[in-house]
Amino acid sequence: MVDQLNWGVLGPGGIARTFARQLPLSRTGRLVAVRSRDAGRAAAFATEFGVARSYGSYEELLADHEVEAVYIATPHPAHPEWVIRAAVAGKHVLCEKPLAVTWAHAMAAVDAARQYDVFLMEAFMYRHHPQLRVLTDLVRDGVLGTVAHVQASFSFATALNPDGRLFAPSLGGGGILDVGGYPVSAARLVAGAARGLPFADPIGVTGAGRIGETGVDEWAVATLDFGAGLVAQVATGVRVAADNTLRVSGSEGYAEVPDPWLPPEGEPGRVVLRLAGAEVREITTPPAAQYALEADSVAEHLADRESPVMSWSDSLGNATVLDRWRQAIGLTYPMERAVPPLPARPRRHDMPTGTLPGIAKPLSRLVMGVDNQRDLTHATVMFDDFVARGGNTFDTAWLYGNGALEPLLGKWIRTNGIRDEVVVIGKGAHTPHCDPESLRRQLAESLDRLDTDHVDLYLMHRDNLDVPVDEFVDVLEEERAAGRLTAYGVSNWTLERVDAAQAYATRQGKAGFAALSNHFSLAEAYALPWDGCEHVTDAASQAWLREHDLALLPWSSQARGFFAGNADDEVARCYHSESNFGRRERARELATELGVPTTAVALAFVLHQPFATFPLIGPRTLEETHGSLRALEVALTPAQVEHLANG
Ligand SMILES: NC(=O)c1ccc[n+]([C@@H]2O[C@H](COP(=O)([O-])OP(=O)(O)OC[C@H]3O[C@@H](n4cnc5c(N)ncnc54)[C@H](OP(=O)(O)O)[C@@H]3O)[C@@H](O)[C@H]2O)c1
Repeated sequence: MVDQLNWGVLGPGGIARTFARQLPLSRTGRLVAVRSRDAGRAAAFATEFGVARSYGSYEELLADHEVEAVYIATPHPAHPEWVIRAAVAGKHVLCEKPLAVTWAHAMAAVDAARQYDVFLMEAFMYRHHPQLRVLTDLVRDGVLGTVAHVQASFSFATALNPDGRLFAPSLGGGGILDVGGYPVSAARLVAGAARGLPFADPIGVTGAGRIGETGVDEWAVATLDFGAGLVAQVATGVRVAADNTLRVSGSEGYAEVPDPWLPPEGEPGRVVLRLAGAEVREITTPPAAQYALEADSVAEHLADRESPVMSWSDSLGNATVLDRWRQAIGLTYPMERAVPPLPARPRRHDMPTGTLPGIAKPLSRLVMGVDNQRDLTHATVMFDDFVARGGNTFDTAWLYGNGALEPLLGKWIRTNGIRDEVVVIGKGAHTPHCDPESLRRQLAESLDRLDTDHVDLYLMHRDNLDVPVDEFVDVLEEERAAGRLTAYGVSNWTLERVDAAQAYATRQGKAGFAALSNHFSLAEAYALPWDGCEHVTDAASQAWLREHDLALLPWSSQARGFFAGNADDEVARCYHSESNFGRRERARELATELGVPTTAVALAFVLHQPFATFPLIGPRTLEETHGSLRALEVALTPAQVEHLANG
């Protein structure tokens, strides 16, 4: 715990006034600076709360050396931007809820705190009130029996003001984002306590609600299914007054917190316990200034960079539920449809590159998979970061996301105006449409979705043994001649078919395949997860690759989590064997020696083959990207490569 923490406030609006009023009640907090977009407003706030310095720009406040922590109290859409700017400036951060409008931007905010090594907490002040601790202790100690049901709402009726923060889509208006996060976070907290965990995430979220005339949710409800019979009903609204009680029911009775979010200041906290067959009991806690307690929690956990009261993963879990709740009622915001970039951060890596025949641009050695991004914001956050770290090559397919992924990549490239710098790998002609005519049609559709006139490399996603190789080579060559693809290759083809196709191309004076994309990793594969896939992990295939001058773009280059210790049924079916366990053990030993994760050594193995490789990575989060990129720190000698493979 630091003895004193000097705070600066960004956005001196309604909640900032409450924070400023309560901060003197904290043990550690001192308000030293305030910033407004309007210097006069900042000065007035400074005078009212006795703040030493006021600024008319955010930059000035972040440059103030006396400010150690900033409290971000702007409307929601600006939160991640200022978390990132504060983190880059080395300031600790308490950010008003929600951390961001979307999970993806919340992830970017958390990532900035991690990268720049500063404290970050989402300001759910109610969690710091001792009455919440009473409730979670009752749940954790089993007093309510088996917890089955959480009911919570935070809903109020306010007059419609289309330009105000609560109703304007551009300011992230609506109940779900403004106060829906409270009941969701409380339900997750209670579900976690019921399982002896800090929080739990629902396995299912369903919802309904009303989107009003300004285009934001005026009220909404959701059911959160935590599995094993534990469910929560949550409700929110900005035009509906409700009974905002938090109620937890179990096999032995139920407990209620009558004022869970904003207990009256100066009055005791209250939890009412109604156990079957027992007298109603009210448990009280001393009056508490919850915003002051929140500020003290920052000071107390500053060195850990996050507070257990609202940890980073807790915030990200909450943001995921809010995304799903909005999705359930069909609510998106304008900023999600055309994502403004978050503030650029200093470039962190230069990624090694290589070349492929026929493609003038260098390709980053690691290739970002475009197959799992949830939405444009997620894609943007992931792709921006990859590019900032030196990546430029993206792998997608006609089939991915039922066609939803290519447009995300296309829109991101178009928005950034970087078509000439990035390498786009497209794939098509997946079974059951694996024939020359479908290839032609799917390539045209892919180009349309990608909003480009060509892909740099086009791969056939599968093979069809009923079609002679020359027919496939002919159609790929035709498309190359038409300029719709720069180079071509295949994925999931046997080496015999590749040999036959390359021989045909040579005889005909055609370009032939520039790359092969089969599965390859340090672990030998005994089975593959999908039908029609091919791997080159066996000794004979590796000998073939050493003899042929054909670059490999291996998928599942980290063996689907085998090296991270994932042992689910699919991983066991594909990889479990004594020789693979030996490989993993040797990778672990080397990783310990080098101070990197085992997965980084496994991926470095793929990068250090005697044949050209451009491994595909499929990170879902920034943390996963950065974990994969650690492979670039690992320089393996041929002897180490041999040792990893064969002991
Ligand atoms: N934890 C809680 O109890 C609690 C309660 C209420 C709100 N909140 C959260 O706190 C945040 C702020 O809410 P609030 O009710 O305090 O809002 P508010 O009264 O409207 O204040 C927001 C302040 O942000 C600044 N700002 C910066 N960019 C802005 C923009 N584009 N439009 C409008 N204002 C902008 C404004 O100050 P300048 O113009 O002077 O720069 C404004 O005074 C929200 O994210 C909300 O969810 C939390």
